[in-house]
Amino acid sequence: MKIKKKNFPLDRFINYSLYDKKSGYYMKKNPFGKDGDFITAPNISRLFSEMIAIWVLSFWKSLGSPKEFELIELGAGNGEMMSVLLESFKNFPKFFKACKFKIIEKSPSLIKIQKKKLYKNKISWIKNVKNIKKKPTIFLANEFFDSLEIKQFTKKKGLWFEKFVHLKNNNKAHFFEKKINMKNYEKKIRFNISKNQKFIEYSEPGISYLKEISKIIKRNSGGILIIDYGYIENKMKNTLQAISKHKYSDILEKIGNADITHNINFKLFQKIIKHMGGLRYNLTTQKKFLIKMGINERAEIISRNYNFLKKADLYYRLKRLIDDKQMGNLFKVMLIRNHKNNFKLGF
Ligand SMILES: C[S@@+](CC[C@H](N)C(=O)[O-])C[C@H]1O[C@@H](n2cnc3c(N)ncnc32)[C@H](O)[C@@H]1O
Repeated sequence: MKIKKKNFPLDRFINYSLYDKKSGYYMKKNPFGKDGDFITAPNISRLFSEMIAIWVLSFWKSLGSPKEFELIELGAGNGEMMSVLLESFKNFPKFFKACKFKIIEKSPSLIKIQKKKLYKNKISWIKNVKNIKKKPTIFLANEFFDSLEIKQFTKKKGLWFEKFVHLKNNNKAHFFEKKINMKNYEKKIRFNISKNQKFIEYSEPGISYLKEISKIIKRNSGGILIIDYGYIENKMKNTLQAISKHKYSDILEKIGNADITHNINFKLFQKIIKHMGGLRYNLTTQKKFLIKMGINERAEIISRNYNFLKKADLYYRLKRLIDDKQMGNLFKVMLIRNHKNNFKLGF
C-alpha cells in the first residue's frame, strides 16, 4: 500500500502496519516461536493440534463420514497445526482419502513457509471462501479472527466518533477522532451494532468472514471451530494491543515491527449467528475444551517412556495451554454448526 493519504481509519492503519508490501509485519518475517514475537498454541505443544485432529475426525463422523468433504484452515501461520493434523489423519485412511485440505492465508511470506513445511501433502491454497463447492466443510480458525484489522468508535453526547491515525512516517504517528454517521457503517455490516453501546470495536473482514462461512455451513452442513483470545460480555471494550518480543508495545511505535491484535467479543459473534438463523453454537474455554478432548490422558500416554527433563518440558507446555492464569481461561473455543447437527464433543 502506498501512503498517499496520511490519515487512516484505525483498520486501514493496522492493515498497513501488518501487510504493507515493503514494511508490513507479516510480510517481512516469521514471527512465530521462541525467537519471534509471540507463540501460538500449536507452537507450544503438538498435543494441542492432536486434540484438534481428534475433534475433526469425530465431527466428520457426526456428519455421517461423508466420502467427500473439505477441511479449510484460516490463517495457518507457520503451518505447524496443519502439519500435525495431516500426520495424525494418515492413521485414518478412510478419512484421509475423503478429505480435501485447504488453507486461506494472506501473507505471501507465510504461504512460502507453509508450502515448505507441507510440501509432501496435497493441499491447495485458496484466496477466500467464495466458490466453495456444495460439500460438507469444516473450518478451523486458531488465532485468526484476532489478527484481523478493527475499527473503533466512541459515543460522546449522542454522537459517534471513529478512531483515526495520522501517520507522519513509520516512526511518528498519533490518534485523532472524526465524527461519523453510524447508520452508514451498520448498513454495510447489516447489523445494529451500536445498540446499547457507548464504545464499539469490531472487524469488518471478521464479520464478513463469519457471515460468509455461516452461510456455507447452513447450505453445506459442517461447522467452524474458532479458538481465540476473547470475552463474552455484552459491553464492548477497547482491546487493541501490539506485541513485540513477547511483550506489549505501543501500536504507534515500532510500526511494521510489532504484531497488532485484539480480543474477540464472542457475544457479538453469538448475536450475529442468532440473527442469521439456521445455526447453533457452543462456547467454552480452551482449558475445558482441551481437558474434555483428553489432553491430560494423551500427555500421560506419550510421556510414559520420557526421561525426567522431557517429561517436565511436556507438562510445562501443557500447563501453558490449560492453566487458568495462562491460556486456559483467556482463550475461548466456539463451535458454529448447522442446526441439524447435534455434535458437541469438547463442549
Ligand atoms: C496470529 S496468526 C495465527 C497463525 C496460526 N493459526 C497459529 O495458530 O499458529 C494469524 C494468521 O492469520 C493470517 N491472516 C491474517 N489476516 C488474514 C486474512 N484476511 N486472510 C487470510 N489470512 C489472514 C496471518 O497471516 C497469520 O498466518
